[in-house]
Amino acid sequence: MNNKIYIETYGCQMNVADSETVASILDVNNYKIASEINNADVIIINTCSVRDNAEKKIWSRLDFIKSIKRKNKNLIVGIIGCMAQRIGEKMLEHPIVDFVAGPDAYRYLPELISNSYLNNKFCNTDFNINETYSGILQKKKDNENMSGFIAITRGCNNFCSYCIVPYTRGRERSANYNDIINEVKKLQENKFKELTLLGQNVNSYYFEDNLNKVNFPSLIEMVAKNAPEMRIRFTTSHPKDLSDELIDVIARNKNICNHIHLPVQSGSNKILERMNRKYTREWYLNRINVIKSKIPDIGLSSDIFCGFSGETEEDFQQTLSLMEEVCYDMAFMFKYSERPGTYAAKSLIDDVPEDVKKERLNRMIHLQNKISLKKNKADIGKTFEVLVEGFSKRSKEMLFGRTEQNKVVVFPSLNKKQGDTVMITIKDASSATLKGEITNS
Ligand code: 5AD
Ligand code: SF4
Repeated sequence: MNNKIYIETYGCQMNVADSETVASILDVNNYKIASEINNADVIIINTCSVRDNAEKKIWSRLDFIKSIKRKNKNLIVGIIGCMAQRIGEKMLEHPIVDFVAGPDAYRYLPELISNSYLNNKFCNTDFNINETYSGILQKKKDNENMSGFIAITRGCNNFCSYCIVPYTRGRERSANYNDIINEVKKLQENKFKELTLLGQNVNSYYFEDNLNKVNFPSLIEMVAKNAPEMRIRFTTSHPKDLSDELIDVIARNKNICNHIHLPVQSGSNKILERMNRKYTREWYLNRINVIKSKIPDIGLSSDIFCGFSGETEEDFQQTLSLMEEVCYDMAFMFKYSERPGTYAAKSLIDDVPEDVKKERLNRMIHLQNKISLKKNKADIGKTFEVLVEGFSKRSKEMLFGRTEQNKVVVFPSLNKKQGDTVMITIKDASSATLKGEITNS
């Protein structure tokens, strides 16, 4: 029986969640998860298209998998996810690719795999505005049954001018809140410790039936109340839709983590407008001030990129000054990569030279490291509740976990284990990690 599948995931948390959905769909169809790529009968690569680099990584991965296929002639290779959607049928021209499926086509994977065994190469990149994969409980790897994801919205309607996502994931849709609550209850029954609500823009969640009109603040409060023993996280928030109502809900529900990932992208109004972000620097900073005043111990993180079309040194300075003003605990930083088919690719010139992009990115990273170090050092002496995730990379004597602010903490294990919640007093800090010791207080 050729039934062992190996799923490899690139890109965002939504892709991680999707891979678990795919594992579940295949499990029902009698496929089993292979823990090792070399033992697999079917390799599925869940891809990302957000920057050109992400796609380059997949092409070189396919070259590597070619060597596995040389040893196992019956191996089936499938490409799914955003790059599958973007490139579509053309990916089948690669000598080892047997099938291609976009983000709305995962229910057809069993069929696509069976067809591959009959030497038929198929591509399914149809969009389905009704597809939310509701009711499919994601399948986790054996050692990963502590943190769960629920995709509450899929797709995106925002059309930021640089972004490929509306083209790869289609229009936005929200899952039925009853299905979401059922999944939450199942995770709670299965003793999950943490749950992340996912969406390209969770703040625009909206579902209406005869009984209720549910927006994101009411959904997350419902989730928090139905899972009082779980930590609740959410990502990603679009600043234009981050309401005071949501901030109040986070502030008053103890099990909703005090962490907001609020991608700013740029600190310059001119660039924000060219990006079609629909907010200004002033609006963004007002959101941050309201958050800080209502939740003083909030952890703040962001996505920021430099070198977008038209970005001058002055615009870039505005980004640096915003970073200093907000004082992010952490940021994901990139340089602009033009994506075919987007508004920016069609109508704006990619006019910042590559060496300038690189140099700006380095300056941005340098500044954020300084800010993160300052913020982490300010935690020394404080005590945090930490959810243990596993052994630290460096030593089996040390564990690591996260504070609700989403900061990584390393500490001596003292017989604690994955899934435990411990109180840790911070003794030392670098720009990336806190170090601490278990306290009894
Ligand atoms: N180039 C560089 N970075 C991008 N992002 C999205 N599109 C691009 C692009 N074309 C970044 C944004 C987004 C994160 C997921 O990736 O910061 O929030
Ligand atoms: Fe990559 Fe964006 Fe697709 Fe996630 S949604 S996989 S980040 S392109």
